[in-house]
Amino acid sequence: MNPAVIVFLFLLQVGTASARCFCQVSGELDDCHCDVESIDRFNNELLFPKLQALLQTDYFRFYKVNLNKPCPFWTSGSHCGLRDCTVKPCSPNEVPEGIRTEARNKYSAEVNSELDKCEKSEALGAVDVSLSDETREALKNWTKHDDEAQRFCLLDDEWCPDSQYVDLLLNPERFTGYKGPEAWKIWTSIYEENCFKPFTVKRPLSPLYSSGRSEARAFYTWLEGQCVEKRAFYRLISGLHASISIHLSARYLLSDEWFEKRWGPNVSEFRSRFDSELTQGEGPKRLRNLYFLFLIELRALVKALPVVKEGSFKLFTGQPQEDCRNKERLLDLLHTARSFPLHFNETSLFAGDETEAAKLKEDVRLAFMNISRIMDCVECFKCRLWGKLQTQGLGTALKILFSELPSSPPSSRLTLNRQELVALVNAIGRISTSIKELQNFRELLAEDT
Ligand SMILES: *[C@@H]1O[C@H](CO)[C@@H](O)[C@H](O)[C@H]1NC(C)=O
Ligand SMILES: *[C@@H]1O[C@H](CO)[C@@H](O)[C@H](O)[C@H]1NC(C)=O
Ligand SMILES: *[C@@H]1O[C@H](CO)[C@@H](O)[C@H](O)[C@H]1NC(C)=O
Ligand SMILES: *[C@@H]1O[C@H](CO)[C@@H](O)[C@H](O)[C@H]1NC(C)=O
Repeated sequence: MNPAVIVFLFLLQVGTASARCFCQVSGELDDCHCDVESIDRFNNELLFPKLQALLQTDYFRFYKVNLNKPCPFWTSGSHCGLRDCTVKPCSPNEVPEGIRTEARNKYSAEVNSELDKCEKSEALGAVDVSLSDETREALKNWTKHDDEAQRFCLLDDEWCPDSQYVDLLLNPERFTGYKGPEAWKIWTSIYEENCFKPFTVKRPLSPLYSSGRSEARAFYTWLEGQCVEKRAFYRLISGLHASISIHLSARYLLSDEWFEKRWGPNVSEFRSRFDSELTQGEGPKRLRNLYFLFLIELRALVKALPVVKEGSFKLFTGQPQEDCRNKERLLDLLHTARSFPLHFNETSLFAGDETEAAKLKEDVRLAFMNISRIMDCVECFKCRLWGKLQTQGLGTALKILFSELPSSPPSSRLTLNRQELVALVNAIGRISTSIKELQNFRELLAEDT
């Protein structure tokens, strides 16, 4: 064959998978006046580095969470399930080695192999709660400080005696082996029971039922017929799902030798979730929802600026110099966020008739609260940690955006406590990281084919 033709064929090959993931993810996003390319540039060059620096600080790396709340909706049947974990067969951190070995002798071979599986996925999904004494001391001071400032609303996790501080840097969000029916169940109950969708409308690619293209069309016809708020709600959830999938694909467990575990990008995992051909066209839609989520959280950051600017708003850790520097960094981040020219315009949400808008807002709020409770049903603790953090972050973003709407009571001044701020900044940190990871996958896919 003529070398030029070979080169030409080669070029045809190059980028096809990449195009299937990304070609449809460009240009304007629905429901807002912004394009994907501007977001990529803004995030990767400006926002991402600043966010990363901030997330390394003590103020933002410790998150208080109760990982031991029972699932309010169903009892888990799995060996790695919550019920079993409260008696700790799956938590090697907490069960002394000797007892575990003894338990193993008592069980049948079948249970043993189940236990092994549990231990394996538990070890990957386990949350490391180790903190230095010094950190512990400083955290006590934070709690005192938060207590003193009475203006904060109560969040049950924060005040529950079972809650612990977790060092987020020690517990990165990555592939844990938590997948299959248990993980589907979480997303399925979110999409099926908490996204305003009637059960007769089938969600594309739901593992519940085999849905074809005609059902996908019916689904999108239904979605387009919804009011902008409910549509936005669905897209936020889908965006969150996409973001989590990107992290798991980008930090996949590539090799698991006894001497080292190696995490890195897994292109085929990424494609299985986002390639248009492999997902009946769903992948690019999921990615667009991720950008939509980014815009919402970015907008919330900007709206938090007046609160954070106030002199009395301190990022208290007990180290005055560091606290001061962190506040400057945070303000710098918020100003950067404000400089983005193509913000989502939230005035279109909850506009119109006041009573209807208030009712709608309450529906959305309750649905979101319910989703945050579903996070207590996530069986893998690390996934639960990041699930709770990201839903709380998004919940805080919604609280900020809605606090200023005409339908809000005029007396309700926006306040943010440490827990909410930490969740919000970490949540947008996750979305920002996803957008950055997309760049990497684009390049890998271009090389791959
Ligand atoms: C905690 O607060 C006490 C009293 O305000 C102070 O003496 C101590 O150094 C603080 N500890 C840390 C680690 O910031
Ligand atoms: C909350 O979520 C659960 C689990 O999906 C569901 O069964 C329940 O109906 C939801 N409750 C409300 C009030 O939406
Ligand atoms: C990448 O993910 C796929 C599943 O999507 C899996 O079968 C494969 O083994 C993974 N590759 C590596 C190198 O781990
Ligand atoms: C947002 O939309 C409203 C009405 O649709 C408009 O009056 C306002 O100027 C817009 N704001 C921005 C910043 O574009």
